[in-house]
Amino acid sequence: EPFEFIKLSKTGEKQNVGLIQLNRPKALNALNNALITDIANALDKLESDKSVGAIVITGNEKAFAAGADIKEMANKTFSQCITEGFIENWTRVANTKKPVIAAVNGYALGGGCELAMMCDIIYAGETARFGQPEILIGVIPGSGGTQRLIKSVGKSKAMEIVLTGNQINAQEAEKMGLVSKVFPVDKLLDESVKLAEKIAANSQIANALAKESVNVALESTLQEGLRFERRMFHALFATKDQKEGMAAFVEKRKPNFTHE
Ligand code: HXC
Repeated sequence: EPFEFIKLSKTGEKQNVGLIQLNRPKALNALNNALITDIANALDKLESDKSVGAIVITGNEKAFAAGADIKEMANKTFSQCITEGFIENWTRVANTKKPVIAAVNGYALGGGCELAMMCDIIYAGETARFGQPEILIGVIPGSGGTQRLIKSVGKSKAMEIVLTGNQINAQEAEKMGLVSKVFPVDKLLDESVKLAEKIAANSQIANALAKESVNVALESTLQEGLRFERRMFHALFATKDQKEGMAAFVEKRKPNFTHE
């Protein structure tokens, strides 16, 4: 097993869902550099595996992840942060082309909440707790907590979460749009895998361009975004999957996408 702090497997009826389970339970899955490297390497594997159509990242019932590893970073200096490129490797998660679902039970705090927000969809268990407590230890979020959060919950709620460090529960998180659905703790992973299977049944090319287009909306004007979307839509007419998907509709059968 090449991984120290995660478990990597394939799941779903067709074994087309990649499952990354954070596995550092004694530290509530605190995200040290080795764990982030494990995630990045697992994502490299899953992205190059043509049989994988979607990815689920999860933790355990107590914690998705309680943040970046405070013990590992406590004595870092500014110059070390710069020369090491501290937390730059976290972007691997946000840069994944295949759809990624975060299945969050328990704590998703600090870097744990940021990791969840780098995923495309967040499903939560009833006991999930989200928060950005960095302010309470003298720093601020460093991997999207001041940027991605405001885009999903708006300014006043984002400011309150970032400036107080208060945790919010799963129901509140759903109400404010941070998570899309809440499930009983023991159903969360099954439901997340089901969602991933549904997405994995699509053309992988269409999934990738759909994801890219939605993400463009977060950083462009409406006109730029609409133009990008239209061009991506046009581009899909160069794929076999578009011909297959539309032919299948006309012939009243299920499409057989080959991801070409
Ligand atoms: C290192 C951590 C940790 C963390 C928990 N542990 N969170 N170690 N970094 N972020 C360790 C504890 O030290 C302890 O180890 C073990 O996990 C169990 O934690 P407890 O505190 O004993 O559990 P509990 O009393 O249930 O409290 C749970 C908790 C608390 C409320 C989640 O652990 C907590 O407040 N954790 C820190 C949350 C936080 O501040 N996160 C933001 C980090 S900053 P021992 O060895 O004592 O058993 C951050 C910056 C991101 O994320 C920047 C960009 C990446």
